[in-house]
Amino acid sequence: MPSLHDSTRGRILFGGDYNPEQWPEETWLEDVRLMKEAGVNSVTLGVFSWARIEPRPGARDFGWLDRLMDLMRLNGIGVVLATPTCSPPPWMGSRHPETLPRDEDGRTVWWGSRQQFCPSSPVYRGYAAALTEDLAARYGGHPALRMWHINNEYCTHCWCDETARHFRTWLRARHGTIDALNEAWGTAFWSQRYDTWDEIIPPRRAQYMKNPAQVLDFRRFTSDALLECYVAERDIVARHTPRTPVTSNFMPLWSGQDAWKWAEHEDVVSVDLYPDPRDPHGGQYNAMLGDMTRSQARGPWALLEQAAGAVNWRGVNHPKPRGLNRLWSLQSVAHGADAICYFQWRQSRQGAEKFHSGMLSHAGEQGRTFQEVKRIGSELALLGPLLEGTGVRSEIAILHDWDSWWADQQDGRLSAHVDYPEIVRSWHRALWESNLPTAFARPDHDLSAYRLVVVPHLYLLDDIAIDNLVRYVRDGGTLVSGFLTGVADQDDRVRAGGMDARLRELFGIRTVHEWWPLDADETVECDGFSATLWSEELEVSTGETVASYGSGELTGLPAIVRNGRAWYVSTLPEPAALRALLARVAGDAGARPVLDGLPQGVEAVRRGELLFLLNHGAKSVTVPVPGRHQDLLGKRCVDGSVELERHGVALLRARTPA
Ligand code: GAL
Ligand code: ZN
Repeated sequence: MPSLHDSTRGRILFGGDYNPEQWPEETWLEDVRLMKEAGVNSVTLGVFSWARIEPRPGARDFGWLDRLMDLMRLNGIGVVLATPTCSPPPWMGSRHPETLPRDEDGRTVWWGSRQQFCPSSPVYRGYAAALTEDLAARYGGHPALRMWHINNEYCTHCWCDETARHFRTWLRARHGTIDALNEAWGTAFWSQRYDTWDEIIPPRRAQYMKNPAQVLDFRRFTSDALLECYVAERDIVARHTPRTPVTSNFMPLWSGQDAWKWAEHEDVVSVDLYPDPRDPHGGQYNAMLGDMTRSQARGPWALLEQAAGAVNWRGVNHPKPRGLNRLWSLQSVAHGADAICYFQWRQSRQGAEKFHSGMLSHAGEQGRTFQEVKRIGSELALLGPLLEGTGVRSEIAILHDWDSWWADQQDGRLSAHVDYPEIVRSWHRALWESNLPTAFARPDHDLSAYRLVVVPHLYLLDDIAIDNLVRYVRDGGTLVSGFLTGVADQDDRVRAGGMDARLRELFGIRTVHEWWPLDADETVECDGFSATLWSEELEVSTGETVASYGSGELTGLPAIVRNGRAWYVSTLPEPAALRALLARVAGDAGARPVLDGLPQGVEAVRRGELLFLLNHGAKSVTVPVPGRHQDLLGKRCVDGSVELERHGVALLRARTPA
């Protein structure tokens, strides 16, 4: 199987989406000159080129792309070639309206933007396959080709009649018989029993709350339907170029795709990262998504898109202050990325994204953005050979699962304030602030390599996952679980006792009597700390109460329970308390921080033999580092400590005594 290494060949890929069809050909020459100046070695072509390549059904205009591919080859720049199937041309919707998605109300999603395709439409799939076939036949042998990029951020949803048919086929494969489906969906409730498969529809607009098991299956189905589109195109390009890796860029922590499952079908796992430059925890967020993507990739991953400055889809879009683009780029490398790319190379002057930054901004080559991009390019060129074949080690895994997320975020639950990604973020932040390196895993993965496994919140756990967690602790692992975990089975059926019996035994809990969600602005006191969001009325069996509720209805009852190496945290402790708790448990489990005594806001990451020190804080700091090192970026000797300016980075290699 090809891998990212087949694209990078010992370098870090550096570049971005390049949309030259938006510019006159003279501009292409200037682009190439500046790309070389910036150390760009990779451009992603074709992402939105469908209408240009196929101006009318079945036509092909490849001449411009031929010239571009050759231009890139002549200049030593590799091409990540996209199948342009995420944005069908207007002729498709106009001639084949059934390819357009319908929303839950049956309203059509029209052309005039992008991504207006129904993943279940055979007509859409037919056109996409034909174009992919021709693209692969034409460029499969081109020396500039480094990687295939299928579609772009697969994210469409559709509730149309074709989707209904497709959904039924998917359901038959999952449930076998209509009786089994009725059982799994609990259709005895509210007279929802299905007599035949034909009666089943996607969960469309309804009078009141929808059947949660149906919604859950529909989310699984939608992820799978998109995956089928991906696999169909991947198979075509792979047939032409079995040695060229294939990817499709994920949106980070995006609910619409089960990225664990998708990653199994990708040669290269890639992601697009857009933390908010104003977010005081943006660095932690970037770290978390790097950890997650690396774990999905089980090795090096590709950052296929980030912004050199502002995006243009937030309410207020802030540029990146000096140094932040470099800091977050090097941080991604530290977390295992072997490709640092942007959306996009040259900032557009027209269209919906004209205020979205580019590597080459409206300010041009003298602009600060481009000057910083050049610096990043030269540093990455230096790093590539040093990092070749290296990885990032973590002794702690955070469990994350799409099924659970989907089941959790539905109507009819006890608290609408429970925001799954935010909870995952809180737990990652607690570990990150203690400089404890983390990986992510799915609850049914082999966890034996980790000293500590944390479960921020997994409402749904199937039997395989539960047995896996129990076995993990029995075999010597330490497990810390957050609230409302192990409540539902794979069909969103609540397990008796408020938590699966095997888990209750594991945590030493006899019964979860009631869940007590907290109001948005409510806090509850526990022994020495406050907590938010959630609380639970627990009765312990063999578990020891580590902290009790000290205010509210649950005063005196256990908040945190420990049963040997298994811990259950029935609320969300404030950040400092969660950090202290996890640092203590991690220490007991033998997991070590990368460095001790780091100033606040400074992150240390080890990749291979290199130690990255990253200053996410607002001020310059002195960082104590035991021993003697060489800073490969600052070209200085580091003896005992190093100065880092705001957004500063040091890349240290130990100096062997002469
Ligand atoms: C991504 C997308 C790009 C561009 C970018 C803007 O979601 O793949 O095409 O739109 O966002 O931030
Ligand atoms: Zn549809």
